[in-house]
Amino acid sequence: MRIQPPVFKTSRLILKPVSITDIPAYQKYFVDFEVIRFLSSAVPWPYPENGVEYFLENLILPRQGIDRWCFGIYLQTKPDELIGCVDLWREPRPENRGFWLGRPFWGQGLMTEAVGPVTEYAFSELGFDVLYFSNALGNLASRRVKEKSGATLLGIRPASFVSSEFTEAELWELKKEKWMESKRIISEF
Ligand SMILES: CC(C)(COP(=O)(O)OP(=O)(O)OC[C@H]1O[C@@H](n2cnc3c(N)ncnc32)[C@H](O)[C@@H]1OP(=O)(O)O)[C@@H](O)C(=O)NCCC(=O)NCCS
Repeated sequence: MRIQPPVFKTSRLILKPVSITDIPAYQKYFVDFEVIRFLSSAVPWPYPENGVEYFLENLILPRQGIDRWCFGIYLQTKPDELIGCVDLWREPRPENRGFWLGRPFWGQGLMTEAVGPVTEYAFSELGFDVLYFSNALGNLASRRVKEKSGATLLGIRPASFVSSEFTEAELWELKKEKWMESKRIISEF
């Protein structure tokens, strides 16, 4: 059964399911070596000309709301331009989530803000009991987003990335109880 992902609002952002109208903005911000170098070597580089279109039309949209929930990230001040994504999927491989943000938007706490409602949705609505995350060892911003959501580092394993400077991946686990507990503590302050 397909249930379209909902729309979320945070203090600065709107999160909504990506659509084909997002292709130009996705292309503009994602096709940037500084973004893509941190991703799995399964992502091609140089990035093919129709790569975004192919990815959305063939890999995301047919699965959207079935076993994949790909949220576009938009600024409330510019709600029609996608600036990044948080992508969640059911089967761990070994992780259940990926994210990226266009370079002009880094370092403002936006991804920390974006992952909150998606994590909550995964645990409260989609029935996940645990989420696995992964990042290149050395991707400190991505690591920090995970640490701040209460994830626990499980270990480090060999892995290959678009940039050959990265040769290992960190694997993280976030259990539902830990997420609910950290939310409770935050709400008491
Ligand atoms: C990873 C990414 C999404 C982070 O987005 P962001 O909105 O800039 O992240 P935030 O601002 O919410 O927070 C990141 C945290 O990392 C820290 N950080 C950011 N850049 C850092 C760096 N180069 N070194 C160390 N820490 C860094 C920030 O200070 C912040 O921690 P703090 O709140 O304790 O100060 C973004 O850098 C990105 O898209 N990178 C390329 C793609 C990518 O790596 N995707 C993830 C693959 S696993």
